[in-house]
Amino acid sequence: MKKYFVIGNPIDHSLSPKLHNYWFKENKIDAVYDKKKIYEKDLQFIISEIKEKKISGINVTVPFKKAVIPYLDKLSPDAEQTQSVNTIILNNDTLVGHNTDVSGFTQAIKNLNFNIEDKKIFILGAGGVVYSIIYALNKMNVSKIIVSNRTKQKAEDLKSQFGIINVLDWGNIPKFDMIINATSLGLKNEVINLNFSNIGDNKLFYDVIYNPSETNFLKEGKKLGNRSENGKLMFVYQASESFKLWHGVEPKINAKTLRLLEND
Ligand code: ATR
Repeated sequence: MKKYFVIGNPIDHSLSPKLHNYWFKENKIDAVYDKKKIYEKDLQFIISEIKEKKISGINVTVPFKKAVIPYLDKLSPDAEQTQSVNTIILNNDTLVGHNTDVSGFTQAIKNLNFNIEDKKIFILGAGGVVYSIIYALNKMNVSKIIVSNRTKQKAEDLKSQFGIINVLDWGNIPKFDMIINATSLGLKNEVINLNFSNIGDNKLFYDVIYNPSETNFLKEGKKLGNRSENGKLMFVYQASESFKLWHGVEPKINAKTLRLLEND
């Protein structure tokens, strides 16, 4: 039986096993998908298991999306551009790193019925996933990307990679059409200590977090008269892109799939 893993640390919260195992059943694929908490020192060994065909594929999550790169033979264009890998596959004995977060985010936004072209986007956070988000936003022709992060240097690092972004000190709020929470604040019901009372309405509040399904950030956006969306579709689409790469089959995404991810 083929074996797949998602590796990261922490990993308990990951819903990838639930989703992939459900799709295995639905598509009659004889395989099993599990999660594995690892440390950086374990990376080389676990990736070598793919080369030896003991493991058929791996999803990579925080904080190893960049750290896996030295152990791979080749990167897809999106992985190369973002220096971030979330899916590993063995292709004719070549270990290839892909990034499906970029297309996951892009498809999620396209599903929103929100015309993002020429819009001003304000991103909170500068962690691993922000590289994929900025790269995707650029391809969708937004007019401006502003990044604010508690540790300013990390936002400056993003600027040195992408050039086109603007960096703002944590605590300030610029004019924007869409705000994205890409910090980890909200995972444990934390509040973001920013004052949104003067931003006006008709903005889009987007949270990368999908569990809990409505963070305090989204609640506040809604209360102020704005639209709010969580990261559930982004998560499902990135998983579906990985599934396609590994199995050559497009898994179904419908209400039942989305319900699978509730109440966890
Ligand atoms: P990593 O940065 O290792 O990739 P991550 O979970 O992807 O980890 O990112 C966590 C993000 O949440 C970071 O932008 C982090 O800000 P710092 O770079 O300053 O650490 C942000 N974050 C976490 N706790 C925060 C807090 N209490 N206030 C503001 N931002 C916070």
